[in-house]
Amino acid sequence: MTDITVRDLRDDLTFGSTVSGIGWNNIEDEAIRQQLRDLFKERGLLVFKDMEPSAKMQVAVSRIFGPLKDHPTKATPRDENGEDVVGVIDMHYVPNSTDDAYAGGLVEVDGMALARFSPWHYDHCYNDELNYAGVLRSPVSAPERGRTGFMDGVEAYRQFSPELRDKIEGKNIIHTLDTRLTKMRFGVNFKLLGGDPPITKDLLKEVAIFPRAMHPAVWTRPNGQKTLHISPWMAVGIEHMEDAEGDALFDAVCHEINRLGKGTSAYWHDWSPTDLLIWDNTRMMHAVEGCDPKYERHTIRSTIKGDYGLGYFEDGKKIGEVFREVA
Ligand SMILES: [Fe+2]
Repeated sequence: MTDITVRDLRDDLTFGSTVSGIGWNNIEDEAIRQQLRDLFKERGLLVFKDMEPSAKMQVAVSRIFGPLKDHPTKATPRDENGEDVVGVIDMHYVPNSTDDAYAGGLVEVDGMALARFSPWHYDHCYNDELNYAGVLRSPVSAPERGRTGFMDGVEAYRQFSPELRDKIEGKNIIHTLDTRLTKMRFGVNFKLLGGDPPITKDLLKEVAIFPRAMHPAVWTRPNGQKTLHISPWMAVGIEHMEDAEGDALFDAVCHEINRLGKGTSAYWHDWSPTDLLIWDNTRMMHAVEGCDPKYERHTIRSTIKGDYGLGYFEDGKKIGEVFREVA
């Protein structure tokens, strides 16, 4: 058995660790597996370094933390190399493509045109059930920019504007699976440079039968830590406050999240193909800064099952019991 090495991700961050030394020779060792599960609960984000860059290794690491969960939609492309596994999804941006699922979707931020930009969010916010964790690797990334950002909800709660925090705590946020940046309403910090990628429209047709999903803006982890957990992307507004006042409050909250994304609530990961990264989706928010549209970008995600139990569909409805007209 080989020992593993654990380090804090960065000296100025209160979350996240790097882990070195995991391989086929020790991945089934139960003491190491328990050490990793405990570390993950405490730190919220683990970056495994120098890993074998394979689907098999990604799945093996994922299973340390729980069973895999399938994606709630059919339109989301799956990784065809993910033998014998559910819900391994494939996000591949190919420059100059017009018909790929992730083609187009360009925005401008700070005067730069960017592809694959994603605003802050957490996964499965449009569903009543969240997933416990996401596991990500990037076989192909841009030589500059293209980083994935992770914001710790525990640290974000501490650093949030107290005035806004008091107003948003105790509120539920409404979400739908509408990932079109052209329709995003809250915390918009980019300019549109064109239309939406094909996948965003395919998803809309599929999720018209999903009721709107509600999740708390702040929740308390089992260890007592207050956690700010907000998804500006895919958010529709504040439950019972779908009016000008509620919209203005939520817009200010989402811009505050963007602001914290530049500080020590957040960590931006520069990818190596041998990195494997896991984040607690009930605690961390994530984003993609985007890259020059001329660069290819390929990320592969597996998803771990497990929920905090606080989300619900509007009016207690189930998938298939509504039909939402989508504008
Ligand atoms: Fe995501």
